[in-house]
Amino acid sequence: MMPANLHPSDAEGIVAWALQQWEHRLTIACSFSKEDILLVDFARRINPSVRVFALDTGRLHAETLQTAERVRTEMAVSIEWYAPKTHDVELLVSRSGLFSFRESVENRRECCHIRKVEPLLRALSGVDAWITGQRRAHGPTRAGLKVLESAPNGEPLKLNPLAFWSTAQVDNEIAARRLPVNPLYDQGFPSIGCAPCTRAVQPGEDDRAGRWWWEAAEHKECGLHGRAPWLSELNTNENNNTHIVEVSR
Ligand code: ADX
Ligand code: SF4
Repeated sequence: MMPANLHPSDAEGIVAWALQQWEHRLTIACSFSKEDILLVDFARRINPSVRVFALDTGRLHAETLQTAERVRTEMAVSIEWYAPKTHDVELLVSRSGLFSFRESVENRRECCHIRKVEPLLRALSGVDAWITGQRRAHGPTRAGLKVLESAPNGEPLKLNPLAFWSTAQVDNEIAARRLPVNPLYDQGFPSIGCAPCTRAVQPGEDDRAGRWWWEAAEHKECGLHGRAPWLSELNTNENNNTHIVEVSR
């Protein structure tokens, strides 16, 4: 799989290898976090037409949308936007209101499914591999994160090139490259998702403590990651668990 001489912390090398391996069958999932923007910068310097996609859930902060526009114009990358199906959102909010996700984990997963997971499935159609900005340091649900995760039955490989990076490493690299930064970071948001499901964290809390803060820590994945329940939609055999490939350290 990955060349043995590629160090798991060599994020730029991993991105270069992935681009060479898959070219336009590779795409970067970009939420306009510092991590994602850094990965886009690594990639666009190698291939300016690198594929980048974003999921517009309809509930993102204005600051995130402004950051997206800075990435598009200042970094000269095209962004493929995916939005949820209008009819599904209309049914959800007409039936359950605009804040149903606060009522139960099931309701929250339903909203995340409609606004994130279903659009993700379309974003990944025809793709062999995708890159995310997840890191181990984000919190307990990501403590065992691998650089390369493979799934059975031809589902796309997932690469997490920054898995072993610290927050300071990301911050230093972003500053050195003078890349756009979502202004919400300076307001105490180390992790930024949808506006009604994200708040600032207190000193000492982990990065994702402000995401779905009303839920227990073990639930804090939206279906894009974690146990990847979306995979079962591509996969007729629901008993097939995601197979994780460990990269030598
Ligand atoms: S998540 O629970 O929302 O997925 P987080 O915000 O930490 O967690 O995002 C982890 C990674 O998922 C990001 O680095 C990015 O690769 C991908 N991702 C999350 N949200 C989006 C989005 N709206 N559009 C595209 N990719 C996303
Ligand atoms: Fe819905 Fe909140 Fe999930 Fe966004 S993060 S899709 S608003 S439940």
